[in-house]
Amino acid sequence: MPAANSRQMGVSEALKRRFDQWMTSPALYRWAIANPLGRWITRRRAAALFEVMAGFVHSQVLLACVRLGIFDKVLAAPATLESLAADTGMQTASLERLLSSAVALRLLDQRSGGRYGLGALGAPVVTHAGLRAMIEHNALLYEDLRDPLALMQRPDQASMHAYWPYAADGKQAPRKDEKARLAPTEAPPKDAPAEQVARYSELMSSSQRFVIEELLASYAFARHRRVLDVGGGQGGWVTELARHAPQLQLMLFDLPPVAAIARARIAQQGLTQRIEVHGGSFTANALPTGADLVTLLRVAHDHPDEVVRVLLRAIYEALEPGGKLLLAEPMAQSQAVHGAKPAVGDPYFHFYLLAMGSGRLRTAQALSELMAEAGFRSIKTIPNPMPLHAGLLVGQKP
Ligand SMILES: C[S@@+](CC[C@H](N)C(=O)[O-])C[C@H]1O[C@@H](n2cnc3c(N)ncnc32)[C@H](O)[C@@H]1O
Repeated sequence: MPAANSRQMGVSEALKRRFDQWMTSPALYRWAIANPLGRWITRRRAAALFEVMAGFVHSQVLLACVRLGIFDKVLAAPATLESLAADTGMQTASLERLLSSAVALRLLDQRSGGRYGLGALGAPVVTHAGLRAMIEHNALLYEDLRDPLALMQRPDQASMHAYWPYAADGKQAPRKDEKARLAPTEAPPKDAPAEQVARYSELMSSSQRFVIEELLASYAFARHRRVLDVGGGQGGWVTELARHAPQLQLMLFDLPPVAAIARARIAQQGLTQRIEVHGGSFTANALPTGADLVTLLRVAHDHPDEVVRVLLRAIYEALEPGGKLLLAEPMAQSQAVHGAKPAVGDPYFHFYLLAMGSGRLRTAQALSELMAEAGFRSIKTIPNPMPLHAGLLVGQKP
């Protein structure tokens, strides 16, 4: 590092340390609340910190409302405390606290005659079954987070780890010799019990809607001929794409028990002629060839770098020359994208993926580097309306 730069960093570091001392001095607080500007800043900071501290209570208020079906009830007709208590079988005094909390969090809205109606933040919860499924599913994560230090020390003991059989399966780690991975004779990871696979596939399918909306709003799929969705789950994305772009031929690849569910769902929708389903593991089997676009939705973040390297290389090999990879998943925003403040979603995904297994939340930059290592070129982010749900990256096989 040039001497001038390091001197500049030294000065800026010293200033920041002085600032830390100043910010933590008890006298500052007294001074700040005594003048209008200081009071304004201090109030905002105190409210933000209080929100961080109370976050667990907020999410439990949301969970209780979902479990009691409060949002559906007040959407059907705004209701009083007494009628909601009779409807839910809850004690009036406890329910009153829940309803007041939900009003404070804008999940509910206070209406005339002491009735409760739907609030601005309750509305999306009624609209999206996938959101309700995730709120219910998060109860498992919060159970694991009751002791965050224990989770950090023994993430493999988390209940979330057991929920995701492929993340818990040690065989997911690829073999060192990459050629061996592509040998079709190698056994895929041990199949998890059908019931467990069906449970996580259903959860993914119900929450995939948000990612599908991002993709359809941001990328022109009609310019492609044949699309392969890797880790495609029950097939929600390929069936949607089949309807959206009627000239496209489609393929889905996922672990054999998931592929079996997808095959049945695709047949139910009369799309068997349009969508080929392949069962296998991308750490053990070659991917089907012939696609000029591969989509990879919410798959890479489930896996460590060494698995993602193998996966991206397998996609590269399966693609036609000139073909593209479109990757969509939540991406870390902490490194302020376009000056925006760090995303509220980052802590959630960091800890979800820790409890789940060996994956991690990556920045667009880290994912682009992994794509470049696999051979992809012209890698770029695609702007999309709701980066909280997913960021989009595209790269091309030369
Ligand atoms: C988080 S889910 C995402 C499913 C879907 N793409 C979506 O966005 O809803 C990850 C998917 O990757 C699949 N998967 C995990 N490991 C795999 C492997 N080794 N080979 C093939 N698919 C795998 C899982 O079965 C699951 O369907």
